[in-house]
Amino acid sequence: MEVIICKDYDEASAKAYEVMKGVISAKDDATLGLATGSTPIGLYKNMIKDHKENGVSYAKCHSFNLDEYVGIDRNHEQSYYTFMHENLFNHIDIKEENVNLPYGDDQAACDAYEKAMDGYKIDIQVLGIGANGHIGFNEPGTSFDSLTHIVDLQEKTISDNARFFNNDMNLVPKKAITMGIATIMKAKKVLLIATGANKADAVYGLVKGEVTESLPASILQKHPDVVVVVDEAAASKIK
Ligand code: PGA
Repeated sequence: MEVIICKDYDEASAKAYEVMKGVISAKDDATLGLATGSTPIGLYKNMIKDHKENGVSYAKCHSFNLDEYVGIDRNHEQSYYTFMHENLFNHIDIKEENVNLPYGDDQAACDAYEKAMDGYKIDIQVLGIGANGHIGFNEPGTSFDSLTHIVDLQEKTISDNARFFNNDMNLVPKKAITMGIATIMKAKKVLLIATGANKADAVYGLVKGEVTESLPASILQKHPDVVVVVDEAAASKIK
């Protein structure tokens, strides 16, 4: 595991893009594993900028996202499908038919997503991390053997996300579909980005803690190629 400590969010986003660019430059038909949340937005801005200014192309790339809500339409303004289009896909030249997000509420949807990914092999998986160490929607206690599965969102996640749904918890989806931990571990390379003091404990667990299902991201200590990009605040407990 390589840990790169940056000054702040902007520097971390630029460094994360350097790692991403290394993969795309070496393989113009790379398969990208992508994430939602506030953390990767800076990385996506750098991808868009370099595409627009220097023509870095995603025309041959495929992408697979980590997760999606269950129970809202793909075109809902808060779906991760919408998020990815607004924050990345609409601004680069990736082809719509090469873009994949999990979608559905049953085992068949989960199996189909695993099968689709197996056909490609993810060259680089972008991850954020939750303050509790979650990756994707894999909350503490999720089995390290898990593949794509349906999860019940925790009460805390539902209340945290109510701000995106008119502050009404009743409107927040109660379930999601997510790549599992074993799915994430199949990626050839993992790029995890964490910024802000509220991630410091999770980053400690990720880098220096015991490998335990109580802190899902800790499994990455066993992955052969992980780059962790953090800012000073998120790195405060590992220095
Ligand atoms: P954030 O979410 O990027 O919005 O902090 C990260 C996560 O929960 O995985």
